[in-house]
Amino acid sequence: KQRKARFYPAFHLAPPTGWMNDPNGLAYCDGRYHVFYQHHPYDEHWGPMHWGHMTSHDLVHWQHQPIALVPGDAFDRDGCFSGCAVNDNGVLTLIYTGHVWLQGVGNDGAIRQVQCIATSEDGLHFTKHGVIVTPPDGIMHFRDPKVWKQNGRWFMVVGARDANDRGQVLLYSGTSLFQWRLEGVLAKADRWLGYMWECPDFFPLGDKYLLMFSPQGMTPEGYRYRNRFQSGYILGRWQPDHPFTLEQHFQELDSGHDFYAPQSFVTADGRRLLFGWMDMWESERPTQADGWAGCLTLPRELSLDAQGRVRMMPARELQALRREAHTLPAFSLKNQRRRLGISALQAEIHMTWDIQKSQAERFGIEIAVSDDRRYVTRFYVDTQSRRLVLDRSQSGLGVGGYRSVTLPDGDTLDLRIFIDRSSVEVFVNQGETCLTSRIYPPTEGRGIALYAENGEAYCQTFTHWQMASIYPEP
Ligand code: FRU
Repeated sequence: KQRKARFYPAFHLAPPTGWMNDPNGLAYCDGRYHVFYQHHPYDEHWGPMHWGHMTSHDLVHWQHQPIALVPGDAFDRDGCFSGCAVNDNGVLTLIYTGHVWLQGVGNDGAIRQVQCIATSEDGLHFTKHGVIVTPPDGIMHFRDPKVWKQNGRWFMVVGARDANDRGQVLLYSGTSLFQWRLEGVLAKADRWLGYMWECPDFFPLGDKYLLMFSPQGMTPEGYRYRNRFQSGYILGRWQPDHPFTLEQHFQELDSGHDFYAPQSFVTADGRRLLFGWMDMWESERPTQADGWAGCLTLPRELSLDAQGRVRMMPARELQALRREAHTLPAFSLKNQRRRLGISALQAEIHMTWDIQKSQAERFGIEIAVSDDRRYVTRFYVDTQSRRLVLDRSQSGLGVGGYRSVTLPDGDTLDLRIFIDRSSVEVFVNQGETCLTSRIYPPTEGRGIALYAENGEAYCQTFTHWQMASIYPEP
Protein backbone atom coordinates (compact mmCIF):
# COMPACT_ATOMS: atom_id res chain seq x y z
CA LYS A 1 0.00 0.00 0.00
CA GLN A 2 1.24 3.49 -0.84
CA ARG A 3 1.75 5.60 2.29
CA LYS A 4 -0.05 8.95 2.25
CA ALA A 5 1.76 12.06 3.47
CA ARG A 6 -1.03 14.07 5.11
CA PHE A 7 -0.44 12.92 8.73
CA TYR A 8 3.02 11.42 8.40
CA PRO A 9 5.53 13.13 10.72
CA ALA A 10 8.57 15.01 9.45
CA PHE A 11 10.60 15.00 12.66
CA HIS A 12 9.25 12.07 14.66
CA LEU A 13 10.13 8.41 14.25
CA ALA A 14 7.44 6.44 12.47
CA PRO A 15 7.40 3.13 10.58
CA PRO A 16 8.20 3.31 6.85
CA THR A 17 4.89 1.49 6.39
CA GLY A 18 2.69 -0.70 8.60
CA TRP A 19 2.21 -0.64 12.33
CA MET A 20 4.41 0.69 15.20
CA ASN A 21 3.92 0.56 18.96
CA ASP A 22 6.46 0.59 21.81
CA PRO A 23 10.01 1.89 21.43
CA ASN A 24 12.40 -0.99 22.16
CA GLY A 25 16.12 -1.54 22.53
CA LEU A 26 17.21 2.08 22.85
CA ALA A 27 20.99 2.07 23.02
CA TYR A 28 24.17 3.83 22.03
CA CYS A 29 26.69 1.38 20.58
CA ASP A 30 29.73 1.87 18.33
CA GLY A 31 29.07 5.54 17.66
CA ARG A 32 25.42 5.07 16.72
CA TYR A 33 22.08 5.39 18.44
CA HIS A 34 19.67 2.53 17.93
CA VAL A 35 15.92 2.67 18.17
CA PHE A 36 14.03 -0.58 17.68
CA TYR A 37 10.27 -0.72 17.89
CA GLN A 38 7.27 -3.04 17.97
CA HIS A 39 6.43 -3.40 14.34
CA HIS A 40 4.02 -5.19 12.04
CA PRO A 41 5.51 -4.55 8.61
CA TYR A 42 2.74 -6.16 6.54
CA ASP A 43 -0.24 -4.33 7.91
CA GLU A 44 -1.21 -1.04 9.54
CA HIS A 45 -2.81 -3.02 12.40
CA TRP A 46 -1.14 -4.82 15.29
CA GLY A 47 -0.16 -8.40 14.45
CA PRO A 48 2.76 -10.82 14.97
CA MET A 49 5.35 -8.43 16.39
CA HIS A 50 8.63 -7.88 14.59
CA TRP A 51 11.34 -5.48 15.72
CA GLY A 52 11.71 -2.54 13.36
CA HIS A 53 15.03 -0.69 13.50
CA MET A 54 16.36 2.83 12.98
CA THR A 55 19.78 4.34 13.61
CA SER A 56 21.23 7.82 14.05
CA HIS A 57 24.64 9.37 14.60
CA ASP A 58 23.34 12.54 16.23
CA LEU A 59 19.86 11.77 17.69
CA VAL A 60 18.45 14.12 15.05
CA HIS A 61 18.77 12.48 11.64
CA TRP A 62 17.53 8.92 11.33
CA GLN A 63 17.74 6.12 8.87
CA HIS A 64 15.54 3.02 8.53
CA GLN A 65 17.38 -0.30 8.83
CA PRO A 66 16.36 -3.85 7.97
CA ILE A 67 13.94 -5.56 10.35
CA ALA A 68 15.98 -6.86 13.28
CA LEU A 69 13.77 -9.61 14.75
CA VAL A 70 11.18 -11.77 13.04
CA PRO A 71 8.91 -14.03 15.11
CA GLY A 72 8.49 -17.71 14.32
CA ASP A 73 10.80 -19.79 16.50
CA ALA A 74 9.20 -22.09 19.10
CA PHE A 75 9.87 -19.57 21.90
CA ASP A 76 8.66 -16.45 20.01
CA ARG A 77 6.25 -18.07 17.58
CA ASP A 78 3.55 -15.42 17.83
CA GLY A 79 5.62 -12.33 18.48
CA CYS A 80 8.89 -10.71 19.49
CA PHE A 81 7.42 -8.47 22.16
CA SER A 82 9.01 -5.46 23.83
CA GLY A 83 12.46 -5.44 25.35
CA CYS A 84 15.76 -3.63 25.49
CA ALA A 85 19.27 -3.53 24.08
CA VAL A 86 22.61 -3.49 25.84
CA ASN A 87 26.12 -2.91 24.64
CA ASP A 88 27.91 -6.02 25.96
CA ASN A 89 31.57 -5.20 25.35
CA GLY A 90 30.80 -3.90 21.90
CA VAL A 91 28.24 -6.62 21.06
CA LEU A 92 24.81 -5.15 20.54
CA THR A 93 22.52 -7.55 22.39
CA LEU A 94 18.72 -7.58 22.40
CA ILE A 95 16.70 -9.00 25.29
CA TYR A 96 13.02 -9.33 24.47
CA THR A 97 9.87 -11.27 25.25
CA GLY A 98 8.99 -14.33 23.21
CA HIS A 99 5.22 -14.52 22.99
CA VAL A 100 3.14 -17.62 22.23
CA TRP A 101 -0.66 -17.95 22.25
CA LEU A 102 -1.62 -21.24 23.90
CA GLN A 103 -5.34 -21.03 23.35
CA GLY A 104 -7.64 -18.25 22.32
CA VAL A 105 -6.41 -14.93 21.07
CA GLY A 106 -6.55 -11.61 22.85
CA ASN A 107 -6.15 -10.57 26.46
CA ASP A 108 -8.25 -13.45 27.77
CA GLY A 109 -6.46 -16.28 26.00
CA ALA A 110 -3.77 -18.34 27.70
CA ILE A 111 -0.30 -17.24 26.75
CA ARG A 112 3.30 -18.17 27.35
CA GLN A 113 5.84 -15.39 27.70
CA VAL A 114 9.57 -15.94 28.19
CA GLN A 115 12.61 -13.66 28.01
CA CYS A 116 14.89 -14.29 25.03
CA ILE A 117 18.23 -13.04 23.75
CA ALA A 118 19.75 -12.19 20.36
CA THR A 119 23.16 -10.76 19.46
CA SER A 120 24.70 -8.97 16.50
CA GLU A 121 28.19 -8.64 15.03
CA ASP A 122 27.44 -5.61 12.88
CA GLY A 123 24.62 -3.93 14.80
CA LEU A 124 22.18 -4.69 11.99
CA HIS A 125 21.74 -8.45 11.66
CA PHE A 126 20.79 -10.46 14.73
CA THR A 127 21.18 -14.10 15.73
CA LYS A 128 18.68 -15.49 18.23
CA HIS A 129 19.99 -17.67 21.07
CA GLY A 130 16.64 -18.61 22.61
CA VAL A 131 15.24 -18.41 26.15
CA ILE A 132 17.14 -16.99 29.13
CA VAL A 133 14.34 -16.56 31.70
CA THR A 134 11.05 -18.45 32.14
CA PRO A 135 8.17 -17.15 34.29
CA PRO A 136 7.97 -17.94 38.02
CA ASP A 137 5.13 -20.23 39.12
CA GLY A 138 1.70 -18.71 38.82
CA ILE A 139 2.78 -15.89 36.46
CA MET A 140 1.56 -15.91 32.88
CA HIS A 141 1.85 -12.27 31.82
CA PHE A 142 5.59 -11.76 32.08
CA ARG A 143 7.15 -9.37 29.63
CA ASP A 144 9.15 -6.32 28.56
CA PRO A 145 12.61 -6.96 30.11
CA LYS A 146 14.88 -3.97 30.75
CA VAL A 147 18.51 -4.81 31.51
CA TRP A 148 21.41 -2.75 32.88
CA LYS A 149 24.86 -3.30 34.35
CA GLN A 150 25.86 -2.04 37.77
CA ASN A 151 29.01 -2.78 39.81
CA GLY A 152 29.93 -5.49 37.33
CA ARG A 153 26.57 -7.27 37.73
CA TRP A 154 23.65 -7.49 35.35
CA PHE A 155 20.15 -6.59 36.49
CA MET A 156 16.81 -7.01 34.79
CA VAL A 157 13.31 -5.77 35.56
CA VAL A 158 10.32 -7.56 34.03
CA GLY A 159 6.66 -6.50 34.09
CA ALA A 160 4.16 -9.04 35.43
CA ARG A 161 0.57 -9.69 36.38
CA ASP A 162 0.26 -11.65 39.61
CA ALA A 163 -2.32 -14.33 40.51
CA ASN A 164 -4.57 -11.65 42.06
CA ASP A 165 -4.54 -9.59 38.88
CA ARG A 166 -2.31 -6.87 40.23
CA GLY A 167 0.53 -5.28 38.36
CA GLN A 168 4.07 -5.77 39.62
CA VAL A 169 7.71 -5.56 38.61
CA LEU A 170 10.11 -8.46 39.17
CA LEU A 171 13.83 -7.98 39.68
CA TYR A 172 16.49 -10.41 38.43
CA SER A 173 20.25 -10.38 38.69
CA GLY A 174 22.67 -12.07 36.34
CA THR A 175 26.27 -13.24 36.40
CA SER A 176 26.08 -13.09 32.61
CA LEU A 177 23.37 -12.18 30.12
CA PHE A 178 22.56 -15.93 29.96
CA GLN A 179 22.52 -16.74 33.73
CA TRP A 180 19.73 -15.11 35.71
CA ARG A 181 18.33 -15.40 39.23
CA LEU A 182 15.04 -14.03 40.54
CA GLU A 183 15.77 -11.52 43.32
CA GLY A 184 12.11 -10.89 44.11
CA VAL A 185 9.31 -8.39 43.62
CA LEU A 186 10.80 -4.92 43.19
CA ALA A 187 7.44 -3.14 43.46
CA LYS A 188 3.82 -4.14 43.50
CA ALA A 189 0.53 -2.27 43.39
CA ASP A 190 -0.69 -1.45 46.91
CA ARG A 191 -3.99 -0.19 45.51
CA TRP A 192 -5.69 -0.65 42.16
CA LEU A 193 -3.23 0.42 39.51
CA GLY A 194 -3.89 -1.89 36.58
CA TYR A 195 -3.67 -5.66 36.32
CA MET A 196 -0.34 -5.65 34.55
CA TRP A 197 2.62 -3.26 34.67
CA GLU A 198 3.94 -3.10 31.14
CA CYS A 199 7.33 -1.87 30.00
CA PRO A 200 9.07 -1.30 33.33
CA ASP A 201 12.30 0.69 33.39
CA PHE A 202 14.39 1.30 36.50
CA PHE A 203 17.23 3.79 36.68
CA PRO A 204 18.94 6.41 38.85
CA LEU A 205 17.95 10.05 38.45
CA GLY A 206 19.74 12.56 40.67
CA ASP A 207 19.99 10.91 44.07
CA LYS A 208 16.81 8.86 43.55
CA TYR A 209 15.72 5.77 41.65
CA LEU A 210 12.84 6.03 39.31
CA LEU A 211 10.63 3.05 38.43
CA MET A 212 8.77 3.89 35.25
CA PHE A 213 6.00 1.64 33.90
CA SER A 214 2.76 1.59 31.95
CA PRO A 215 -0.18 0.23 33.94
CA GLN A 216 -2.50 -1.80 31.74
CA GLY A 217 -6.20 -2.26 32.38
CA MET A 218 -7.07 0.98 34.17
CA THR A 219 -10.74 1.81 33.88
CA PRO A 220 -11.18 5.34 32.63
CA GLU A 221 -14.05 5.87 35.06
CA GLY A 222 -15.74 9.24 35.02
CA TYR A 223 -13.96 10.34 31.89
CA ARG A 224 -15.85 10.96 28.73
CA TYR A 225 -12.87 10.01 26.61
CA ARG A 226 -10.77 6.97 27.22
CA ASN A 227 -7.04 6.78 27.79
CA ARG A 228 -7.15 8.42 31.19
CA PHE A 229 -4.28 6.46 32.61
CA GLN A 230 -0.91 6.59 31.05
CA SER A 231 2.65 5.81 31.77
CA GLY A 232 4.15 7.10 34.94
CA TYR A 233 6.65 6.47 37.67
CA ILE A 234 7.23 5.97 41.33
CA LEU A 235 10.28 7.47 43.00
CA GLY A 236 12.37 5.99 45.76
CA ARG A 237 15.80 4.83 46.82
CA TRP A 238 17.58 1.66 45.89
CA GLN A 239 20.92 -0.09 45.80
CA PRO A 240 21.74 -3.67 44.81
CA ASP A 241 20.72 -6.28 47.39
CA HIS A 242 18.38 -3.87 49.17
CA PRO A 243 14.65 -3.30 48.80
CA PHE A 244 13.33 -0.39 46.78
CA THR A 245 12.02 2.12 49.32
CA LEU A 246 9.17 4.18 47.99
CA GLU A 247 9.19 7.95 48.50
CA GLN A 248 6.53 9.09 46.09
CA HIS A 249 3.40 7.38 44.78
CA PHE A 250 2.52 6.94 41.14
CA GLN A 251 2.63 10.09 39.03
CA GLU A 252 1.75 10.40 35.38
CA LEU A 253 4.72 11.37 33.23
CA ASP A 254 2.72 13.14 30.57
CA SER A 255 -0.75 14.62 30.94
CA GLY A 256 -1.86 14.60 27.29
CA HIS A 257 -3.92 11.97 25.49
CA ASP A 258 -1.26 9.88 23.77
CA PHE A 259 1.81 8.77 25.64
CA TYR A 260 2.56 5.15 26.47
CA ALA A 261 5.30 2.57 26.98
CA PRO A 262 8.27 4.96 27.28
CA GLN A 263 11.76 3.53 27.52
CA SER A 264 14.89 5.34 28.64
CA PHE A 265 18.52 5.17 27.57
CA VAL A 266 21.78 6.97 28.29
CA THR A 267 23.42 9.23 25.70
CA ALA A 268 27.10 9.13 24.76
CA ASP A 269 27.65 12.04 27.19
CA GLY A 270 25.68 10.52 30.06
CA ARG A 271 22.23 12.13 29.86
CA ARG A 272 19.07 10.08 30.57
CA LEU A 273 16.65 10.36 27.65
CA LEU A 274 13.45 8.57 26.77
CA PHE A 275 11.20 7.94 23.81
CA GLY A 276 7.53 7.09 24.28
CA TRP A 277 4.94 5.66 21.93
CA MET A 278 2.90 8.70 20.84
CA ASP A 279 -0.37 6.82 20.79
CA MET A 280 -2.50 4.68 23.10
CA TRP A 281 -4.10 1.29 22.64
CA GLU A 282 -7.60 2.75 22.77
CA SER A 283 -6.93 5.68 20.43
CA GLU A 284 -8.51 6.14 17.03
CA ARG A 285 -5.98 5.79 14.21
CA PRO A 286 -7.12 7.63 11.09
CA THR A 287 -3.66 7.03 9.57
CA GLN A 288 -4.56 3.38 9.07
CA ALA A 289 -6.41 4.53 5.98
CA ASP A 290 -3.02 5.83 4.82
CA GLY A 291 -1.10 2.58 5.25
CA TRP A 292 0.70 3.24 8.52
CA ALA A 293 0.04 3.68 12.27
CA GLY A 294 1.96 4.81 15.33
CA CYS A 295 4.95 7.05 15.94
CA LEU A 296 7.29 7.94 18.79
CA THR A 297 7.54 11.12 20.84
CA LEU A 298 10.54 13.39 20.48
CA PRO A 299 13.54 12.18 22.46
CA ARG A 300 13.17 13.79 25.90
CA GLU A 301 15.77 14.41 28.55
CA LEU A 302 14.86 13.53 32.12
CA SER A 303 16.12 15.33 35.19
CA LEU A 304 15.28 15.74 38.84
CA ASP A 305 14.95 19.36 39.94
CA ALA A 306 15.83 20.92 43.31
CA GLN A 307 12.28 20.24 44.57
CA GLY A 308 12.62 16.56 43.70
CA ARG A 309 10.28 16.79 40.71
CA VAL A 310 10.91 14.84 37.53
CA ARG A 311 11.27 17.09 34.49
CA MET A 312 11.13 16.10 30.86
CA MET A 313 12.49 18.36 28.10
CA PRO A 314 13.07 17.82 24.38
CA ALA A 315 16.66 16.72 23.73
CA ARG A 316 18.81 19.79 23.02
CA GLU A 317 20.04 18.16 19.78
CA LEU A 318 16.64 18.95 18.24
CA GLN A 319 17.56 22.63 17.95
CA ALA A 320 19.48 21.57 14.84
CA LEU A 321 16.11 21.11 13.10
CA ARG A 322 15.10 24.76 13.44
CA ARG A 323 14.82 26.61 10.13
CA GLU A 324 13.25 30.02 9.39
CA ALA A 325 12.47 31.83 12.63
CA HIS A 326 9.61 34.27 13.12
CA THR A 327 9.79 36.42 16.25
CA LEU A 328 7.28 38.89 17.71
CA PRO A 329 8.10 41.79 20.02
CA ALA A 330 6.25 41.76 23.38
CA PHE A 331 2.58 42.64 23.01
CA SER A 332 -0.74 42.40 24.76
CA LEU A 333 -4.15 41.23 23.58
CA LYS A 334 -7.43 42.51 24.90
CA ASN A 335 -10.63 40.65 23.99
CA GLN A 336 -8.86 39.91 20.79
CA ARG A 337 -7.65 37.19 18.50
CA ARG A 338 -4.47 37.76 16.55
CA ARG A 339 -3.91 35.51 13.60
CA LEU A 340 -0.26 35.08 12.61
CA GLY A 341 0.85 34.54 9.04
CA ILE A 342 2.71 31.34 9.83
CA SER A 343 1.92 27.67 9.58
CA ALA A 344 1.57 24.95 12.18
CA LEU A 345 2.22 21.97 9.97
CA GLN A 346 5.76 21.25 11.09
CA ALA A 347 6.88 23.75 13.71
CA GLU A 348 8.35 24.57 17.09
CA ILE A 349 6.98 27.49 19.10
CA HIS A 350 8.59 29.02 22.17
CA MET A 351 6.50 31.59 24.00
CA THR A 352 6.23 33.15 27.43
CA TRP A 353 3.20 34.76 29.03
CA ASP A 354 3.15 37.14 31.97
CA ILE A 355 0.57 35.35 34.09
CA GLN A 356 0.96 37.77 36.97
CA LYS A 357 -0.33 40.65 34.82
CA SER A 358 -2.69 38.71 32.55
CA GLN A 359 -6.25 38.97 33.86
CA ALA A 360 -8.14 37.65 30.82
CA GLU A 361 -10.53 34.85 31.67
CA ARG A 362 -8.89 32.68 29.04
CA PHE A 363 -5.83 33.24 26.91
CA GLY A 364 -3.54 31.12 24.84
CA ILE A 365 -2.78 29.81 21.42
CA GLU A 366 -4.81 28.25 18.63
CA ILE A 367 -2.83 25.66 16.73
CA ALA A 368 -3.63 24.17 13.34
CA VAL A 369 -6.70 26.33 12.90
CA SER A 370 -8.43 26.10 9.53
CA ASP A 371 -9.57 29.25 7.69
CA ASP A 372 -13.21 28.47 8.41
CA ARG A 373 -12.27 27.74 12.08
CA ARG A 374 -13.99 24.38 11.95
CA TYR A 375 -10.77 22.78 13.05
CA VAL A 376 -8.72 24.12 15.90
CA THR A 377 -6.54 22.77 18.70
CA ARG A 378 -6.23 25.11 21.66
CA PHE A 379 -3.74 25.40 24.47
CA TYR A 380 -4.85 28.00 26.99
CA VAL A 381 -4.79 29.30 30.54
CA ASP A 382 -8.13 29.28 32.31
CA THR A 383 -7.64 31.90 35.01
CA GLN A 384 -10.93 31.09 36.81
CA SER A 385 -10.17 27.43 37.39
CA ARG A 386 -6.40 28.05 37.35
CA ARG A 387 -5.90 25.26 34.84
CA LEU A 388 -3.80 24.84 31.74
CA VAL A 389 -5.90 23.16 29.09
CA LEU A 390 -5.13 21.24 25.91
CA ASP A 391 -8.38 21.14 23.97
CA ARG A 392 -8.59 18.79 21.02
CA SER A 393 -12.38 18.68 20.86
CA GLN A 394 -12.19 20.17 17.32
CA SER A 395 -8.88 18.70 16.24
CA GLY A 396 -9.98 16.58 13.31
CA LEU A 397 -10.67 12.94 12.49
CA GLY A 398 -11.47 10.57 15.32
CA VAL A 399 -10.21 12.58 18.28
CA GLY A 400 -11.82 14.68 20.97
CA GLY A 401 -11.65 15.81 24.56
CA TYR A 402 -9.61 17.94 26.87
CA ARG A 403 -6.63 17.38 29.06
CA SER A 404 -5.70 19.82 31.76
CA VAL A 405 -3.21 20.36 34.57
CA THR A 406 -3.01 22.83 37.44
CA LEU A 407 -1.58 26.19 36.39
CA PRO A 408 1.94 26.22 37.83
CA ASP A 409 2.97 28.88 40.35
CA GLY A 410 5.21 31.67 39.19
CA ASP A 411 4.92 34.98 37.35
CA THR A 412 5.76 33.64 33.92
CA LEU A 413 4.48 30.73 31.93
CA ASP A 414 7.08 29.27 29.59
CA LEU A 415 5.77 27.07 26.77
CA ARG A 416 7.59 25.05 24.16
CA ILE A 417 5.21 23.52 21.66
CA PHE A 418 6.09 21.08 18.89
CA ILE A 419 3.61 20.41 16.11
CA ASP A 420 4.30 17.76 13.52
CA ARG A 421 1.34 17.14 11.19
CA SER A 422 -0.57 14.76 13.49
CA SER A 423 0.93 15.54 16.90
CA VAL A 424 1.25 18.26 19.52
CA GLU A 425 3.75 18.14 22.38
CA VAL A 426 3.69 20.92 24.97
CA PHE A 427 6.50 21.36 27.50
CA VAL A 428 5.48 23.68 30.33
CA ASN A 429 8.01 25.64 32.43
CA GLN A 430 11.14 23.73 31.45
CA GLY A 431 9.44 20.37 31.49
CA GLU A 432 7.66 20.54 34.85
CA THR A 433 4.62 19.25 32.95
CA CYS A 434 4.15 17.84 29.43
CA LEU A 435 1.02 17.28 27.40
CA THR A 436 1.21 15.11 24.30
CA SER A 437 -1.69 14.40 21.96
CA ARG A 438 -2.35 13.31 18.41
CA ILE A 439 -4.51 15.50 16.17
CA TYR A 440 -5.80 14.90 12.64
CA PRO A 441 -6.93 18.18 11.08
CA PRO A 442 -6.79 18.82 7.34
CA THR A 443 -3.34 19.67 5.99
CA GLU A 444 -4.54 22.85 4.27
CA GLY A 445 -4.82 26.18 6.06
CA ARG A 446 -3.14 25.29 9.31
CA GLY A 447 -2.89 28.68 10.90
CA ILE A 448 -1.76 29.89 14.31
CA ALA A 449 -3.54 32.53 16.38
CA LEU A 450 -3.06 34.02 19.83
CA TYR A 451 -6.08 35.13 21.79
CA ALA A 452 -7.43 36.61 25.01
CA GLU A 453 -11.08 36.38 26.08
CA ASN A 454 -12.72 38.71 28.63
CA GLY A 455 -9.73 40.77 29.58
CA GLU A 456 -6.12 41.37 28.74
CA ALA A 457 -3.17 39.00 28.40
CA TYR A 458 0.53 39.79 28.03
CA CYS A 459 2.73 37.81 25.72
CA GLN A 460 6.37 38.54 26.56
CA THR A 461 8.19 36.51 23.93
CA PHE A 462 7.15 34.56 20.89
CA THR A 463 9.33 32.64 18.44
CA HIS A 464 8.22 30.19 15.79
CA TRP A 465 10.50 27.97 13.73
CA GLN A 466 9.78 25.85 10.71
CA MET A 467 11.23 22.44 11.46
CA ALA A 468 13.34 20.39 9.05
CA SER A 469 12.87 16.68 8.43
CA ILE A 470 14.84 14.00 10.26
CA TYR A 471 14.74 11.65 7.28
CA PRO A 472 17.19 11.65 4.37
CA GLU A 473 16.03 13.62 1.32
CA PRO A 474 14.32 11.22 -1.11
C1 FRU B 1 2.84 -2.37 25.59
C2 FRU B 1 2.78 -3.81 25.12
C3 FRU B 1 3.88 -4.63 25.79
C4 FRU B 1 4.10 -5.75 24.81
C5 FRU B 1 3.89 -5.06 23.48
C6 FRU B 1 3.27 -5.93 22.44
O1 FRU B 1 2.24 -1.46 24.73
O2 FRU B 1 1.51 -4.36 25.37
O3 FRU B 1 3.56 -5.07 27.09
O4 FRU B 1 5.38 -6.30 24.95
O5 FRU B 1 3.07 -3.94 23.73
O6 FRU B 1 3.30 -5.31 21.18
